[in-house]
Amino acid sequence: MPDVIAYGGDWNPEQWPEETWEQDVALMREAGVNRVSVGVFSWALLEPAEGVFDFGWFDRVMDLLAASGIAANLATPTASPPPWFGDAYPEALPVDSGGRRLHHGSRQGFCPSSPIYREKALRVTEQVATRYRDHPALALWHVHNEYGCHNARCYCDTSAAAFRAWLRSHYASLEALNDAWGSAFWSQHYGEWAQILPPRDTPSLPNPGQQLDFRRFSSDALVELYVAERDLLRELTPGVPATTNLMAGAHWDMDCWAFAAELDVVSTDHYLIGARAEPHIDLAFAADYARSLNGGRPWLLMEHSTSAVNWQPRNRAKAPGELRRNSLAHLARGADGIMFFQWRASRAGAEKWHSAMLPHAGVNTKVWREVSALGAELAGLSEVAGSRVKADVAILIDHSSVWAQDHPAQPSSELDPVEEAKRWHAALWRAGITCDLAHPEGDLTGYRLVLVPALYLVSDSGAANLEGFVRAGGVTLVGPYSGIVDEHDRVRLGGYPGAWRDLLGVTVEEFFPLDGPIRLASGGSGSAWSEVAHATSAKVLDTYATGEPAWTRNAWGDGAAHYLTTRLDDDALAGVIAAVCAEAEARPPATSPPGVEVVRRSHPDGRSHLFAINHTAEDAVVTSASGASVTVAAGDARVIAG
Ligand code: GAL
Repeated sequence: MPDVIAYGGDWNPEQWPEETWEQDVALMREAGVNRVSVGVFSWALLEPAEGVFDFGWFDRVMDLLAASGIAANLATPTASPPPWFGDAYPEALPVDSGGRRLHHGSRQGFCPSSPIYREKALRVTEQVATRYRDHPALALWHVHNEYGCHNARCYCDTSAAAFRAWLRSHYASLEALNDAWGSAFWSQHYGEWAQILPPRDTPSLPNPGQQLDFRRFSSDALVELYVAERDLLRELTPGVPATTNLMAGAHWDMDCWAFAAELDVVSTDHYLIGARAEPHIDLAFAADYARSLNGGRPWLLMEHSTSAVNWQPRNRAKAPGELRRNSLAHLARGADGIMFFQWRASRAGAEKWHSAMLPHAGVNTKVWREVSALGAELAGLSEVAGSRVKADVAILIDHSSVWAQDHPAQPSSELDPVEEAKRWHAALWRAGITCDLAHPEGDLTGYRLVLVPALYLVSDSGAANLEGFVRAGGVTLVGPYSGIVDEHDRVRLGGYPGAWRDLLGVTVEEFFPLDGPIRLASGGSGSAWSEVAHATSAKVLDTYATGEPAWTRNAWGDGAAHYLTTRLDDDALAGVIAAVCAEAEARPPATSPPGVEVVRRSHPDGRSHLFAINHTAEDAVVTSASGASVTVAAGDARVIAG
């Protein structure tokens, strides 16, 4: 990562006459842009016919950047195969679960398991890498774009064969697979590997094990495509780091943990969802996730928007100051690069109504003024680059668990594991406590508190990991319908939650989904879910009117394990989370009024910056642990050194 904050966006010069390019670069310099992503969707112009390459125009793009001192995240253009690809190889186009083959004419029109796609993608990657391996503008490989955004799962015959090969490498025998999938149920026992299909549309519910393994296989297929390109790039340009832009926290089809393990630096994209009441808290979740995926090291925000997007039902423009608050919130949470989609707003094409750094209306605009001011501000914050956020709290998140719970036959469809994780994260956000996200099997040492909002599926080693954390003195809070099934989505027997009955000192005999709120003795309420639970060794801290436990605490080793048997309302949840934070001695870096975000980034030598971002319409006073206070005006943000 650079020793300045990278600033810029996707530059798509091919959408414009060449006369515009000089002006683009001059304006980039004016706005403080030092980094752009180029070539992301350039395949059709770099290889206009199969095997025929035209790099002349792109040489001029790269040379212009180098001459202007702007570094390139140079993309491999493989996210959007040209029309000649779909035309010549229709068998390589993706097929949906109903057997419908999709047509070319958009983007990501390929089957991830297609050997033809892989061959053509590696060929254009090799051409790009060979041509620009020594180019002075090349800073980072931007491999592909948002893997799986549109084609995460393909159900064609090629994918079916690849799925079977994946299954053979994961199961010692067909009998082991039959056992894992519980295929004795509904007469699904497989006698031959060749009988196994992707979970294409069926008359009724799919087999949960088959569905879960297909999600895993499909995610692995995308990671493999990334690795194939990255390995080629490493061979041709050793020393140039590579990344691909994830959609951490927004798109759950790809296992971000598996992807992140292969990236030289994690980069991600984030877009505000207008329908959310406080979209900046969702932003914080995504940023915390990106940082955690990069092992706490600085990461790169590859895309966000200067104002409206074009793909929501109502595309809200950002309010004055919101762009800056959003960017500084990403920076606060560990980003060393703040980039946008895209540099210049498109005149044509499917995203012509998407905002950009340089709007249709030009430079005499709110967006341009804010973009330029932000560029200047970030240039003054280069001392932040390389510093880290230290979190005492982690939230466990696992894609396999989300996928397993996505099976349509659940006790209730109202428990959404992602929304529940985000709700618990929001409670911490409101308390001013920054948290990491962690994989259930990841290293939990160093945390004081581990929250498990919704982890329906957990492996034996994941279950033991949490137990070990608590035994060593950690505090945990586990939400309902967690620890229920093993890694194959088979129920852990003997009373729920089978994985953690001993740890929690609780056994649950039956779930009682609710059709309305339920009152608790404490005065709070639960909704959607309740359980008939018995405390075996835990102390009961709150109950339903029936006297059955709603919140319990079990002393375990040197730590403690709390459990909730219902989905608490926001206020009650905030109360419980405040209690476990107090018990674990997890504290915010400063005190601030509601709606004011405070995060600290620190260097190992002690230099640090406190970010205070006021999302409210009132001026706010923020007071640090040492008692020093600053006023942050309504809608303003301050970055305070030391
Ligand atoms: C991202 C994508 C960009 C652009 C953007 C629009 O998902 O990587 O190419 O489509 O969304 O918000």
